[in-house]
Order: sequence, then C-alpha cells, then structure tokens
Amino acid sequence: MIQTDRIQKPDIMQTAQRDIQLTESGELKHFLSIEGLSRDKLLEILDTADQLVDVNGKTTNKLPLLRGKTVANLFFENSTRTRTTFELAAKRLSADVLNINVNVSAVSKGETLLDTLRNLQAMQCDMFVVRHASSGAAHFIARHVEPHISVINAGDGQHSHPTQAMLDMFAIRRNKGDFSKLKVVIVGDILHSRVARSQIHALNILGTGSVTAVGPKTLLPDQVRELGVQIRHDLDGALVGADVVIGLRLQKERMRSALLSSEDEYYRSFGLTERRMKLAKPDAIVMHPGPTNRGVEIEASVADGPQSIILEQVTGGIAVRMAIMSITMGNIEKQLNKSKSQMHDDQAG
Ligand code: CP
Repeated sequence: MIQTDRIQKPDIMQTAQRDIQLTESGELKHFLSIEGLSRDKLLEILDTADQLVDVNGKTTNKLPLLRGKTVANLFFENSTRTRTTFELAAKRLSADVLNINVNVSAVSKGETLLDTLRNLQAMQCDMFVVRHASSGAAHFIARHVEPHISVINAGDGQHSHPTQAMLDMFAIRRNKGDFSKLKVVIVGDILHSRVARSQIHALNILGTGSVTAVGPKTLLPDQVRELGVQIRHDLDGALVGADVVIGLRLQKERMRSALLSSEDEYYRSFGLTERRMKLAKPDAIVMHPGPTNRGVEIEASVADGPQSIILEQVTGGIAVRMAIMSITMGNIEKQLNKSKSQMHDDQAG
C-alpha cells in the first residue's frame, strides 16, 4: 500500500486548483491540469512543440535547454508510452534522468510519498514527472516541493492526464488545422478516463467546433455535460460528419462493479470498426491514447489503417513533452533569477 500522506482528492468533475501551476507573473512552472489554463498557454506549448520537430514529425537532436538539470520519473502506476517519451524528451533536452522503480524502492517498505520526494530533493533533482493512482497526487506534490522544482503530471487517478491531452491536440492540429471547424467524437469509458477529461478541457479552450462524448450510460454519466460537451449513447449517429474520432480504453482496473454486460456487446455497440468509420468524413482521423484493446475498442484494421494516427500521437508526444519541460523549467529559472536580483537590490538599498 503506497503511503501518500494526505493527498487531496478532487471531485472528478471539479476544477482543480488553478493557480498553483503558475508563477507569480502567471507563467507555467508546473504542468498539472489543463483546466484553468488560457488558450495562449496551450498555443505556446503547441507552437514550441512545432519548433522541436522536423517536417517528418521527428524531434530535433539534442538541445541544451535542460543541461545540468536532473529529471526524476516517478511512476506509481504502469506506463509504456508516457514514461518512455518523458525519458526521451528529457534526454533530448540534455537533462540527466532518474527512473525511479517504485516497486523496488523504499516506497514498498512503507516510506511516504513526501519522504520519497524529500530524498529526491536532497539529491538535487529539478523536475518530478509523476504518475499516481490517486487523483490530486501531482497537485499535492507541487504544494510541497522546493521553489526550484517543477512538477509535471503524467496522470493522476481519474482526474487528469494533461500531457496526453496536449500531444493529442498537437496531432489534431498538425493533421486538421483550425479547431473551430472540427467535429470531434470521443468514444468509450469516459467515466474513468483522465485522458478524456483533459482532452475535453483542451478542445474547449482551443475553440473546437463541436465535441461529442459517446459511450454506454454506465460509462458516460449525464454530469459529463458539465464539462461542456454533447453526450450521446449511439455511436453510429454521433460519427456522421466527424473529422476526428478518438477511441478510449476500457479501464477495467477502475471499474468497481459490473458496468458492461460483456466486451463482445461493447464492441458491437461502441467498437470503432471499418463499417462505422464510413459514417465519418472520408478524411477523418482515428486516434487512441493507447494501450489499445483490439477487438474490444477498435478493429485491428482501423487501428492499423490509413486513417489511424495512433503512432503519430506517440511520436509527437516527445516534442510536446520537450516543450512542456523546457517551458516550465525556463519559467522557474526566470522566477528564481528575479527573486535573486530583488534580494540583491534590497541588500544594496
Ligand atoms: N497513453 C498513455 O498514458 O499510455 P501509457 O499508460 O503507456 O503511458
């Protein structure tokens, strides 16, 4: 059992604390959640990521932006894509990277999250990339770290997965351009999805033409409307005229009771199949944050087909994570330099 001290668990529909991720002058120093951020902040991330990729979408070779900095990847939940692309991103920014294997760390001996962090701070880490099963974990950590440390949320419970949402926005913008003209359909287990929540916030902030969430009633409660989306329970109807179709994983590990009659039944009603994709626009793109369950959420021929940009999402994740890390660290440096020069002026005065 992980000791997390007193993690504040935000209501899943509640807006997370807004100001803790910003410096006094309103710039990003942590990246914890999308909600509350301005359109300009999201565009700054997308534009910076654009500068970090070449025409093929590959990230540029090493840049010195995080030289001398140490990034600690703290993953209390499993991950393939997020952890490895954060590692690649940090290395491409010339940072040193520590991958903390939580299962063989002193956390398994009962050490609290705060004690783990204090020890990593004592090792002079500069950035914590955190994935945790508890909603609010990254906010909790950000409230307790020293001022020179940036905290990046790599997924907290059912609450937020903001870097995933930003890499999804990056992939949409590169393929489709202007958000205001787009009809976006998100289908699946919206109830348990931190990805969907962050995507919906990002799509709304970026002024997307229409955003529709689709799923069975058990996985798509009416409250989701409060996030500013249309909700539907018929995928065929929702797909008509769609430009962007995003599938989500069934999060069985988060389902506390039987919310589905069977996976076969789910696939029949909500699976992204070739037949169904014909209802969307002919040039619609298909996305999925991964991991995908073929034959449950998506037909293999759709996942691997010409409309799928699933692997392009993964590649773009490196540039987007480089952008977020360099922006937050740069803003912390600016703030620390400002404080130092103020102290110097005060002493001189
Ligand atoms: N999309 C995503 O978060 O994947 P991982 O769980 O593999 O990091």
